[in-house]
Formats: sequence, structure tokens, C-alpha cells
Amino acid sequence: MSGLLCNREILLGVSGGVAAYKAADLCSRLVQSGAKVTVIMTESAHQFIGATTFEALTGRPVHSHAFKPQEHFQGEHIGLARRACLVVIAPATAQTIARLAHGMADDLLSTTVLVTTAPVIVAPAMNCDMWAKPAVQRNVAQLVSDGYHLVGPEEGWLSCGQIGAGRMADPGPILHTMQRLLTGEVGT
Ligand SMILES: Cc1cc2nc3c(=O)[nH]c(=O)nc-3n(C[C@H](O)[C@H](O)[C@H](O)COP(=O)(O)O)c2cc1C
Repeated sequence: MSGLLCNREILLGVSGGVAAYKAADLCSRLVQSGAKVTVIMTESAHQFIGATTFEALTGRPVHSHAFKPQEHFQGEHIGLARRACLVVIAPATAQTIARLAHGMADDLLSTTVLVTTAPVIVAPAMNCDMWAKPAVQRNVAQLVSDGYHLVGPEEGWLSCGQIGAGRMADPGPILHTMQRLLTGEVGT
């Protein structure tokens, strides 16, 4: 696994849910595997976890603003999309899933995902009643049909106190899917 990820450019998208803290663990495991990780946080994600955590883990700036480029002045979304060999969005909120399903490009993460030609893994995380909503299920089905790779969600304890489907997948299954995509075991 480490060998496969070594020196790979991974783009980690973090959207605004309580499970954003789990993205730090995933990020750390990617870095420990030798991957070069760049993080895009949505505006809401900043309510749940600090950019400093991801900057410390990756040794790179965290990107959040389409119009305040830090690296690519012809468009941060273009540069970040081109650099990535794999994109992982974890956690993926209902809002971010809706943006992707509808081809929206109204923040840096959705715009970058629209540009990338790399495989995109989506790890949803939300309240179980939210996950069960037809609108959310329609959007998820659209993503799968568009070729996105869904990992989770799992069933279990949710931060709202309910038990049900909506927990973000652990880093293990996400890393496993990355491995399968990199080896070509799963079609991109
Ligand atoms: C305490 C709290 C927890 C939340 N947790 C989630 C969540 O787990 N999943 C989700 O889809 N939305 C959650 N939301 C709502 C999102 O933060 C909100 O829809 C936001 O607009 C998502 O934007 P983003 O996708 O751009 O990050 C939560 C909101 C609050 C206040």
C-alpha cells in the first residue's frame, strides 16, 4: 500500500460536517504512506476543523478560495486539478454531493472536481435521516452513474446521537479503494 501511494499527488477535499476531524487521520495516513497531499477545505469545513491541522500534516497550504490563489495564478482549480492523480472527498456533505451531482462550480472544491480527469472517491457523512432523503439518494445515484467512487457511509453511532447509516467510512476502506484504483483493479 505504502509503495503504491509513494510520491502520488492526492487531493483531499474536506467539506463541512462533524466527521471533518476524521479527515485529519486519513490525511496523516496518506502522508505516512509517502503520498503528497493537498487539502481543499470548503468554507463550512473551517467551522469543524482548523486549516492549521492539515497544513501541519501535509506541509502544504490549505486551499479554500477560488479567487485567492496561493500556487496557481491561472486558476487554483486548474492547477490543483491537473496535479492530482486521485481525488478523495471525505467527509462529503449532502451539500457537496448535491453540488457535484449537479455539476455546480460555486466553490473551489466543486470547481476543481469539475476540472479534474483523475478518479474521485466520495465518502459521505451525515445524519441518517438526511442520508435516507430521496434527494440525497438521487444525487448519490447520479454520482455513481457519473463514475464517482462511493465509499460508505457506514452504520453506527452518529454525532447527533442517533444510530443509523451516515457515518463516514474509516480511513481503511478509503485507502483500500485508492489502492484498487491505482492498481487498475477498479476501472477509473
Ligand atoms: C453541527 C453541525 C453538524 C453538521 N454535520 C453535517 C454532516 O455531518 N453532514 C452534512 O451533510 N451536513 C452537515 N451539516 C450541515 C453542513 O455544514 C451545511 O450543509 C454546509 O452548508 C455544508 O457545506 P459544504 O458542503 O460546502 O461544506 C452540519 C451542520 C452543523 C451546524
